[in-house]
This record gives sequence, structure tokens and C-alpha cells, in this order.
Amino acid sequence: MALIPDEVVSEIRDRIDIVAVIGEHIQLKKSGVNWKGLCPFHQEKTPSFHVNPPRHTFYCFGCQKKGDVFAFLMEIGGKSFGEVVRELAGRVGVVIPERPMSPEEQARRSERSRLFDVNALAAAYYRGVLGDGRQGAAGRAYLEGRGIGAEVAAAFQLGLAPDGWDGLLRHFEQRRIPLEPALLLGLVARRSSGSGHYDKFRNRLMCPVILPAGEIAGFSGRTLANDDPETPKYLNSPENPIYKKSQLLFGLHAARPSFAKRGRAILVEGNFDVIALHQAGFTETVAPLGTALTAEQVESLRRLAPSVVLCLDGDKAGRAAALRAIPILVAAGVDARVVALPDKEDPDSFVRSRGAAALEDRVAHAPSAIDHFLEEIWYRSDRSAEARAAALREAAPLIAALGADSIKRDIVIQQFARALDVESRVVRMALAARPAPAAPTPAPAPAAPPPPSAELKVFAILADHPDLVAEADQLGIRSPLTDARLRDMYSRRLSGQSFLDAAPQDISDHVAREVLSGAYAAVPNPRRTLMDAVRMLRSEHMEQELARLHRAAKDANRRGDTTLERELTRKYVETRKHAEELKRRPEEEPR
Ligand code: GTP
Ligand code: MN
Repeated sequence: MALIPDEVVSEIRDRIDIVAVIGEHIQLKKSGVNWKGLCPFHQEKTPSFHVNPPRHTFYCFGCQKKGDVFAFLMEIGGKSFGEVVRELAGRVGVVIPERPMSPEEQARRSERSRLFDVNALAAAYYRGVLGDGRQGAAGRAYLEGRGIGAEVAAAFQLGLAPDGWDGLLRHFEQRRIPLEPALLLGLVARRSSGSGHYDKFRNRLMCPVILPAGEIAGFSGRTLANDDPETPKYLNSPENPIYKKSQLLFGLHAARPSFAKRGRAILVEGNFDVIALHQAGFTETVAPLGTALTAEQVESLRRLAPSVVLCLDGDKAGRAAALRAIPILVAAGVDARVVALPDKEDPDSFVRSRGAAALEDRVAHAPSAIDHFLEEIWYRSDRSAEARAAALREAAPLIAALGADSIKRDIVIQQFARALDVESRVVRMALAARPAPAAPTPAPAPAAPPPPSAELKVFAILADHPDLVAEADQLGIRSPLTDARLRDMYSRRLSGQSFLDAAPQDISDHVAREVLSGAYAAVPNPRRTLMDAVRMLRSEHMEQELARLHRAAKDANRRGDTTLERELTRKYVETRKHAEELKRRPEEEPR
């Protein structure tokens, strides 16, 4: 991927009609030089979202979101900077000079992007098969039978793995695509006898797992051989460097822009529940990938969606899954609600048989997760003394998840006490009698000191300009980071996690606020801004280092250790010289 020159970005920004672009997403009315409308990024009844054409910017007085047209499209579409720039370039007829990659750039291209590329090629192949007149017929008929239209199929980039052993394999071989990555990604496998390979996904409707920035992390393939008991219904990508199922949510790329607009995320169980609900207009729907909900998945939802509505299958397994998910949601401080579907119904069958309005009604009036929990463990019981004891036992992990001494905990304890018709003392006793949890919930330290803002600034720039990450790493930004949590976060970012996911729990709110504010999305020269920030960081780091050397030298002097004193003084002078050079010379700009 070539970098887009700043002049080109500026030219596009200047030429594009920001009112027209934003006007495609919300209704705008002229008001002085500005245009006003209802903010798409938070819920409001009176317009506080302003677009200023002369400055090419937008600003919301309600939620403080601001930026240029690129920032707007990134936010609303969950796209990367490069993607939106390329899209808009087409609209204003600006040609992006695609500079071929230098050998160093090629070398720097990580294994990860190679893996993403191979998944993208595979997805394109599967899409091609689905669209193919003859080969794709069974897949298209299947989708039609489930009521999935072309638009939703395209949004989810659905495809078809043909019913044979070497469709993808031959496609890759013809294009001289190396098989190593495809093996790691679980797209192909080695034959156990003799030589050669074969396709892993066969005769399956392919649902790519798409990241919000558009990359394909893996696949979940649903069999078309419904009545073959030997064939598992779903085959999912194996764990690999870019597919970690506990961190992924199916449908997130399509749902993320809707979370703020709808004021909620809907969490379902199956891929086809996600797809069917998007088809029915519930575009805020996501699902875990066939596993129980994890704290990591909840965490990424918490920061994106104001509330989470669990809408799991109505059968026993679905109800049990909801009970297990509730403590995780509650522990994360998510406003969680639960829709209980009738037995034998899943969200997909429910909208199909009763219509979207019926589901909306249930979602809109869904009881809180705690109320639902009580309903399940107590009101449905025979309300005997034994059932009461069992209910207390089941409530314990939920209440423990609320952390040590929150007000919320007291409220919930009272809620349970009232429902179970016991004194709150009894609930507390049941909690105390509980054996220590195997994995204590990490209660967020109440007052973690905020990380140094100069360090956060570098991260904030990188978050807005992910294409600069590799370059920044070459500049050596890790060493001047003084905050261990940020160093850790940086390493995780380098290994491919997003800043959002890489942020340690105790500073995640800081990071979310400062790093993901989008404050640097619209700077005219991001690389320059990054260089300046790094230079500042390094210079601060050196000042601290100088102070440390100075103290240590004085100490050595006091102890009469002249050899050490001389060594430290030499280091001091050297560092000093370095620091001065750094102040004088602006960082040379890489070509
Ligand atoms: P249908 O409506 O029957 O097409 O399926 P669904 O998408 O609603 O999925 P279902 O509710 O049956 O299962 C929920 C999720 O569990 C699926 O989306 C898969 O991620 C996962 N899953 C289901 N069956 C299998 C299986 O046989 N193997 C694996 N690995 N995962 C499965
Ligand atoms: Mn289903």
C-alpha cells in the first residue's frame, strides 16, 4: 500500500463539497455560514451538529466530535483513512499517484498484512464463485431461501466455497500465490498421504469476518449440505496471528456505524442471526464467533455502544448462554438488557415469522440484565427454600462481578434481597460464604495515574494515521516511553491489535478519550506532526535522563567513587550534546 502524499489529501479536502458528503448521511439545514443537523454520532433531539464549509470541518457541540470530511467518513463508516481518501479522490477527479513500494517498505510489510492480503484474495474468489452463473447457483438459492438480499450479501461480502477439493487451491496456484500463508490461515491443508494440498472450505456459504477497517481476519463457512450428519454446520478459521476468535465479533464492520445512531448494540448467537437482522433493518447487530461471550468482546462493545441488548436463542442453551454472559456485561459496567425469545425461536426465525416491528418492540422494552437474571433464576423456580438457596448461589458471581464497594453493588444486593424475600444481610452472607473465585474479576484500580500526555499524543496521532505506525517504529518511539502501560500497549499495537483493544484496563478510558478523539485526523501534515511529537518526547526523555545522570554522578562523588563519577560525567556530557543537537535539528523527513 503506497502512502498518499499530503498535498493530494489537502487538494481532495479543498475540492470536495463537505456539505454534500455529510448531507448523504444526515439532513442538513443552512444556518449562517454553517449547516446544522442532528448529530449521527450521539442521540439528540435538537441539532447540535455543525458543518462549516469554509473551514472544511464539522463539529458537534453535543458530543464534541469534530474533524474534516475524512474524519467524518471514517467515523460513520468505520473505514480507514486510506479508504476514505481513495473514495473521495474518485469523486473530485483527483488522481492519487501510487508510488511503488521501495524494497525497505516491502521488507517492512509485516506478516500480518500478507495474511490479510491472502484472506482478501480468498474472499474475492469466494465472492466470484457465488456470483458465477453455474457454480454459484446453489449458494444464491440458499441465500434467497433465507431471505437475504443482494445488498446485505454485498455488505457482508458473502461468498461460496465450491463443492470440490481444489477450487481455491487452483485459483492460488494459477496466480503463483504462495501456499504458506494459506496453510496458516486454514484455507488449505496438506494432504496427509503423499504430497499436495486441498481446500478446507468446501460447499459452504462463506461469511468473512471483517474488521472495522475492512480487513478480513478469517472466515466462518456454513455448510450447504444441511442433511449430512457427518458435516459440521460451521467451519471457522483456526486461531492464527490475525484470527483470534475471543477478540472478534461477527458483523462489527457493518454494525459499528449504527451503534451510536441506534443507541445500542444487539448481540445474537449465530452468523445468520446477524445477517438476517441486518436484512430486517437491525444494522446494530453483532455476534461472537460460536463461543461464549468474552470479556474482550464486551470491552470493545462497551466503548462503542451505549448499551447492549442480548438477544440469544430461546432454547435452553441460549438461555443458559445469556445467564453466563450477564455477569461479564455487568462487570464491564455495560448497560445490558435481555430479550427473551420464545422457545425454539432464534432472532432470525423470530423476525421472519413475526416481523421486524415485533422484534423492535421486544428490544425496545427489554428488561435490564439483572431483572432478567432474577426472572430466570427465581421467578421461574418453584420458590422453595431450596430454590432460594440455589438462586443465591447463582447470584453470587453476578454480584461479585460488580466489584468491591460500588453503590451499584448495594443496589443490586437490595434488588436480589427484595426479590428473594430475604434481608440484604442474607444475600451478603451468601456472597461471603462463596469460595474465592478462580479468576478474580480485575476490579479497575480507582485512581490509576493518567499516562504522560506527551506520550499519549504520539499514540493519538498514530491512531488517526495508522499508515504511519511502521514509520514511527523506525523512529524508535518505544524507548522514550516512560509509562510501562503505554510501552505494553505499544507492543500490542505493533503486533496488530488496535489501540482500543491494546489499552490496559486501568487507563482504557484515558486512552479512549485522548487517543481516539480524532483530534489529529485533520492535521495538514500528519507525518510532520508525528515527527514533532516524537522529537518532543525524546527531548523530554533526555532531560529526565540528564537529571538522573546528574544525580548519580553527585552520589558517586559523595561516596568518593571517582571512576564511576568520571564515567557518569562523560555520559552526561554526551547525552547533553545529543539533546542539544535534537533541539537544533528538525527530524529529517523521510522521503
Ligand atoms: P443457522 O440459522 O442454522 O444457519 O445457523 P446460525 O448462524 O443461526 O448458527 P447457530 O445458532 O446454529 O450457531 C451459532 C454459532 O455457533 C454459529 O454462528 C457458529 O459460529 C457456531 N457454530 C454452530 N455450529 C457449529 C459447528 O458445527 N462448528 C463450529 N465450529 N461452530 C459452530
Ligand atoms: Mn439460526
